[in-house]
Amino acid sequence: MISTNFQTVAYVVAAALFILSLSGLSNPETARRGNMFGIVGMVLALLATALGETFDTVGAWVLLLAAVAPACVIGVVVAKRVKMTEMPQLVALLHSFVGAAAVLVGFSTYLHPTGGEGHVLTHAEELIHIIEVYVGVGIGSITFTGSVIACGKLHGKISGAPLTLPGRHMLNLVLVILTVVCGVLFARAAGADNISGALVWLGLGTVLTGIIGLHLVAAIGGADMPVVVSMLNSYSGWAASAAGFMLSNDLLIITGALVGSSGAILSYIMCKGMNRSFISVILGGFGTADGGGGGVVVEGDHREISAVDTAARLKQAKKVIIVPGYGMAVAQAQHALADVTKKLRDSGVKVSFAIHPVAGRLPGHMNVLLAEAHVPYDIVHEMEDINDEFPETDVVLVIGANDIVNPAALDDPTSPIAGMPVLHVWESKLVVVMKRSMASGYAGIGNPLFFKENTSMLFGDAKKVVEDIRAAL
Ligand code: TAP
Repeated sequence: MISTNFQTVAYVVAAALFILSLSGLSNPETARRGNMFGIVGMVLALLATALGETFDTVGAWVLLLAAVAPACVIGVVVAKRVKMTEMPQLVALLHSFVGAAAVLVGFSTYLHPTGGEGHVLTHAEELIHIIEVYVGVGIGSITFTGSVIACGKLHGKISGAPLTLPGRHMLNLVLVILTVVCGVLFARAAGADNISGALVWLGLGTVLTGIIGLHLVAAIGGADMPVVVSMLNSYSGWAASAAGFMLSNDLLIITGALVGSSGAILSYIMCKGMNRSFISVILGGFGTADGGGGGVVVEGDHREISAVDTAARLKQAKKVIIVPGYGMAVAQAQHALADVTKKLRDSGVKVSFAIHPVAGRLPGHMNVLLAEAHVPYDIVHEMEDINDEFPETDVVLVIGANDIVNPAALDDPTSPIAGMPVLHVWESKLVVVMKRSMASGYAGIGNPLFFKENTSMLFGDAKKVVEDIRAAL
């Protein structure tokens, strides 16, 4: 067993490693190192906790191992099995565990306050503890149900369409007021040592906040889910932090705050990328005020092009921009694409990649795949840095992308993605769209790009098509 001082030092080192990890993860070149800092920090934190005074008996160790060992096995199996494209729902599911843990910790610390053996809480300490418990349980419950709904929507088990109940904003307001009322009644009952009464109000508060979480996320449509996932990431951080307060565990407070604030910053960046209001996201009802809006049905004639002809146009081009999307990830076309890029650059063609902030199904999805295929970082550009370059581009290759290149976002105010910034690929001389069919993308709406004069469709699985282009180059 280690002393409390030693444990504190280990916690401080772990917290510093988590901060280094976050700073490393902000850049693809340092991301691996950042990941390693995070792993080392977490192992240190777990060891320092397990070897601390809390687990000072064999019985406590048995309980700890009984909880942790199966969880480790399940975690490894699930992480090995999950496809990259299914990561958002796994992340949402993991957030729900953090929320559930905060709820359970809340109930348990209410019944058994931590403060050391024989430590009697003062009146002020008791009040703070009661508030901690109620707020922690509430945040945890919102995170739990919201994350379960987000997971279901992302996994296709629940319809991605927004649930727009009549008077839903009023419903949210009533739920919040009832939650506050339950909180006051819980505090009064707990203050009067009426444990069974307090448990009833705490339980009711848990149910009400659970309904709030469920309703907030259910009201959000498919196209806006990326922001919701990162917002839930932030909520799960605050839930962990609240659990840290309840357990008087400084490291949990710090770690939770790091996750909470970085999730909030990421959500803010994504809101900017999608031209959504950050405040509306937190309130869970944005993008759906008109009942979801279907956007216009898009019809017309489209042109087709073969892989051989595409290769010929690429060879003649001076400047090419490649726009990857979700379909590239599904097909795992990044390695063949990296080969095509190399061949073109070797023959003097200027090739760049344009990355939309919500391309794919999780933040940074495309950057990870391109880095894995060793595409040089300096030719991979964020949307705002490259969007002006399309008019002087000879060929744009759109690989398995749809919503992020949909001009309806700019032209159709009724579209569910109206106002979302998109890549202006149609301004180039030729756009080749590679996908398997004329089907819609994640937002489920038609795309007028496919029918433009300068667009040609190249149908087929992205990997197979890119391999054909590589062979023809
Ligand atoms: P999408 O709009 O979903 O379009 C992807 C396209 O890829 C589909 O239209 C599909 O058409 C095609 N495709 C699928 N499998 C393919 C394959 N094997 N080979 C070739 N093509 C294939 O993707 P996007 O343009 O990347 O936009 C992202 C969307 O996901 C946005 O609506 C965004 O809001 C949402 N979203 C993003 C995130 C984050 S954080 N990035 C998280 C959740 C949701 P076919 O079926 O015709 O092949």
